[in-house]
Amino acid sequence: MQLIWYDARSSVETKKMNGRTMNVYKLVGLYAVVVAGGAMMVAALAEKKDMESKRGILHSVAALSRKTDFPVEPIFIERWSPRALSPKEITDEELMPLFEAARWAPSSYNAQPWRFIYAKRGTENWNTLFNLMVPFNQAWACNASALVLMVSYKYFPHNGEFSRTHAFDAGAAWQNFALQASQMGLVAHGMAGFDYDRAKIELNISDDYEILMMIAVGRPGNSEDLPADLRTREEPSIRKPVSTFAFEGKLP
Ligand SMILES: Cc1cc2nc3c(=O)[nH]c(=O)nc-3n(C[C@H](O)[C@H](O)[C@H](O)COP(=O)(O)O)c2cc1C
Repeated sequence: MQLIWYDARSSVETKKMNGRTMNVYKLVGLYAVVVAGGAMMVAALAEKKDMESKRGILHSVAALSRKTDFPVEPIFIERWSPRALSPKEITDEELMPLFEAARWAPSSYNAQPWRFIYAKRGTENWNTLFNLMVPFNQAWACNASALVLMVSYKYFPHNGEFSRTHAFDAGAAWQNFALQASQMGLVAHGMAGFDYDRAKIELNISDDYEILMMIAVGRPGNSEDLPADLRTREEPSIRKPVSTFAFEGKLP
């Protein structure tokens, strides 16, 4: 009896011990999750703060150096095309809004002829797009977070006829894309310096599409990290006066 009672007590104690050990494990696990979650939140907040501060710097650099002939909304002059980028990855939450903005561009017959072929940094498709660029662009766009090739569909879907404005419409989509990027503190830098013929072959693009441009999308970086020749060019460009391109009645 004594022995049975002792065994019974010991099994209860063992269960209690196991229970306690389990609780300790659970607590440690919970603690680890909380610490990891906290660290991730702190990192995300720091990244957000960094992006906001870099966006502020990019925008104010442009606003300070660019003078307008007439008052306009700040987004037009705050957007510019830096080449200094931080070689970081980009999430869909960051990239997709740029396509969303492009989506709302106006187009002839609402044909929406723009098409984007994109590759994120660190993926298989990245090399295909990266290798199309001329060395000048590769020198800085190697730090982009995504590369995008933009093409436009040449025909109207409703009647199959050639659309003379397909590239023009796609240009409006590009501007939406670029303005959205700028507002989000991202860089969207357009590029014509790439091999158009090779892009057509390597990406299997049919004659129904016109290859328009590439875009390097990235997070702002430090201009000191650019090669010397690019560092000196890292400033917002200016524009011709309105009077040189807007004419009442007819061209001069
Ligand atoms: C269609 C297109 C092609 C461009 N090609 C290149 C290019 O190959 N390499 C480059 O560094 N910048 C390129 N740019 C960027 C322009 O040089 C830049 O947009 C222009 O100087 C105006 O400056 P901003 O964008 O800073 O206002 C291109 C821009 C566009 C819209």
